[in-house]
Amino acid sequence: MIGKICGTGSYVPVEYMDNHELSRTVETSDEWIRERTGIVKRHIAKEDTTVSMAVKAAKQALTDSELCEEEIDLLIVSTISSNVILPCTACEVQKEIHAINATCFDLNAACTGFLFAYNTAQAYIAAGMCKNVLLIGAECLSTLIDWKDRTTCILFGDGAGAVVLRAEKGNLYRTVSCSDGRKGTALTCDMGDYIKMNGQEVFKFAVRQVPEAIAGVLKENNLKEEDIAHFILHQANRRIVEAVARRMNVELDKFPMNLQEYGNTSSASIPLLLDEMNRQGKLKRGQKLILAGFGAGLSWGASVLEW
Ligand code: ACO
Repeated sequence: MIGKICGTGSYVPVEYMDNHELSRTVETSDEWIRERTGIVKRHIAKEDTTVSMAVKAAKQALTDSELCEEEIDLLIVSTISSNVILPCTACEVQKEIHAINATCFDLNAACTGFLFAYNTAQAYIAAGMCKNVLLIGAECLSTLIDWKDRTTCILFGDGAGAVVLRAEKGNLYRTVSCSDGRKGTALTCDMGDYIKMNGQEVFKFAVRQVPEAIAGVLKENNLKEEDIAHFILHQANRRIVEAVARRMNVELDKFPMNLQEYGNTSSASIPLLLDEMNRQGKLKRGQKLILAGFGAGLSWGASVLEW
């Protein structure tokens, strides 16, 4: 059995901060941020929390899936910015949406989190442990940002994305998933502190590892670049996406982006993009997509998804 996506949803706070507004609080400019990252604005939660955003995205995904909440038997939230340490965000979401039959847990693998959660859900389904999974990536990164640090505050934003997976007959695709704790100091956030990052190191890591992971997953599944309709990368930086496309020698059109609107929303970026594309009718049944994540840990990987 394989998990097929049968519903998507997303939510971002209405409030946002554009580059011009940021340049009034730290020494930066719209031009610098656009040129180095491609980001134009980021949505920032004022009233919303990680849980409230996750719930709104989840409700949309459930409606889209036509499943009812009681049919969900696994609920995973990928997040690095839960409201509280206990209870986990997934249990808080369960309570709000009445998914009373679901096993609930959170997963923390930073910007690779949604990809690892997707693989976890597929493994549960393949093992016959569940049938219907609600998978959410939700982040309130604005609470983890030092708004006086121009090297990080320009990059991140808040939001949530969700998908519902339903078990169907089919073969499981092989996946590439990697972690290297020895390089963890490149991107950290201590308890009670803010996100700290060696931007150039993370940049180089992403540009090197993501094409390798994608090449690896294509090979593992006997697929070629031309078999893939869209490469859905974690939305961190336009230059990273462009460099990956260049290294793979694949046209940039196959790498959809929405980071200009949302910034880097960590775990939420891949499901947010999937939901946007789904609602715009850009995803067709039977198309093969590649999801690729990279981030703190360091962690990275790529998986094939058949729409
Ligand atoms: N505005 C203006 N100048 C700035 C800013 C800013 N916001 N930030 C840094 N600068 C300055 C620096 O101080 C430096 O000045 P100096 O030359 O006088 O020392 C100069 O700009 C160049 O700084 P670099 O760090 O070399 O700039 P770079 O081109 O590497 O861009 C950036 C920085 C955008 C952070 C880039 O390294 C990057 O995108 N890295 C990847 C980050 C990322 O994607 N992280 C998330 C992935 S994992 C996850 O999502 C958790």
